[in-house]
Amino acid sequence: MAEDDFVEAIGEGELKEGSMKLVNVAGRGILLVRHGAEVYGVSNRCPHMGCSLANGKLKEYIVTCPCHGWSFDVRSGEYQKAKQIKLLTYECKIQDGKIYVKIPDDI
Ligand code: FES
Repeated sequence: MAEDDFVEAIGEGELKEGSMKLVNVAGRGILLVRHGAEVYGVSNRCPHMGCSLANGKLKEYIVTCPCHGWSFDVRSGEYQKAKQIKLLTYECKIQDGKIYVKIPDDI
């Protein structure tokens, strides 16, 4: 896979404004969040104890883990209380009515 490969995830209509959705792209669980024309992608697994963030709550750009309440900014992946702890982030784009996620080679 080339380094800059974008992989088709879902149709644009499947991710509503201000909502989040768990997708599986290239064997990875990735949580997509949409705000307007922007789509953000982060790893779905909470770095605390591995819970699925897709079962948590989203407010603006902040997703809160359902298990113990850790919260992350989907734009940077940063844990709000200790910014050195991060979710993996994935570049996303909307093109031709579909949402694509960039899957790097090295992670
Ligand atoms: S597993 Fe997410 S806060 Fe504990």
